[in-house]
Amino acid sequence: MNTITIFAPATVANVSCGFDAMGFALETLGDKMTFTKTASKKITISKIEGAELPFDTDKNVAGVVAQAMLKDSNAAFGVNIEIYKNFKPGSGLGSSAASASGTAFAINQFLNNKYTNLELVKFAMLGEIAACGSAIADNVAAAIYGGFILVRSYEPLDIISIPTPKELMVTAIHPQIEVKTADARKVIPSKITLKTAIAQWANVGGLISGLHTENYDLIANSLVDYVAEPARKHLIPYFDEVKESSLKSGALGVGISGSGPTIFALSKGIETANKVAEAMQKTYSETGIKYEIHVSKINETGSKIITKWNIIV
Ligand code: HSE
Repeated sequence: MNTITIFAPATVANVSCGFDAMGFALETLGDKMTFTKTASKKITISKIEGAELPFDTDKNVAGVVAQAMLKDSNAAFGVNIEIYKNFKPGSGLGSSAASASGTAFAINQFLNNKYTNLELVKFAMLGEIAACGSAIADNVAAAIYGGFILVRSYEPLDIISIPTPKELMVTAIHPQIEVKTADARKVIPSKITLKTAIAQWANVGGLISGLHTENYDLIANSLVDYVAEPARKHLIPYFDEVKESSLKSGALGVGISGSGPTIFALSKGIETANKVAEAMQKTYSETGIKYEIHVSKINETGSKIITKWNIIV
């Protein structure tokens, strides 16, 4: 195998109550990336479609992750990367995380799966540092492990996979404005009261338990964010209106996807997820702001191989 094309999923970080600690991956939205082994021992990026991103491998998250992995493994080869983005940076759907995780996953294939998923998350986090200045694991862990993840600890890094209830669906509306993660992190309060902390960690416990036991009522009651959402929602036009209409249409819970501006809703079953999509569409169609809506299952496999082949030259 010297060429591999992979799918790297979009992800929803935080999942309302789990700021920087929870995330999940989407089944139907993500990037395609093609990696080709080369003899030059260099990393190159020959194609980027769907977004304006740097070709400079010190600045592009895929380049940063690939260089770190080839250096760490003392690889005797180089890699050329082609990136086909299906969702934009600054969406809140883990755009940089998809590029970073997809790269970590693909390079690991060339290295005969030398690294564990946990190690791949560590490499992919280097991409997050390059993208937004913070070593955040929630998006990249979801994109590598798939399903729901909990970052139980950052030092040392500990990622826990949480089961996905069978009927759980996500609806996401992406207003076509850009919110930079670095900017959205500046508005998060550096201190919260004990009362707020208690309410927040109690909901994380409730959400984890609800996901484990497929208790949709418990999931609904736990999808509440007292920390990031109140501080960030002013960055997202019509957030309250979308939340209210989505909940009225039967969503279990509604929140900001990662650092926004995408708003996500979790629902039980495709019928409700589609009704929520209609409600989101109705709310946003009156605003004059362009938007995209995605309805998806939860991706339970993480990044995956689409094709691999040998090119003999
Ligand atoms: N947990 C991060 C945040 C996700 O909300 O800032 C964005 O990368």
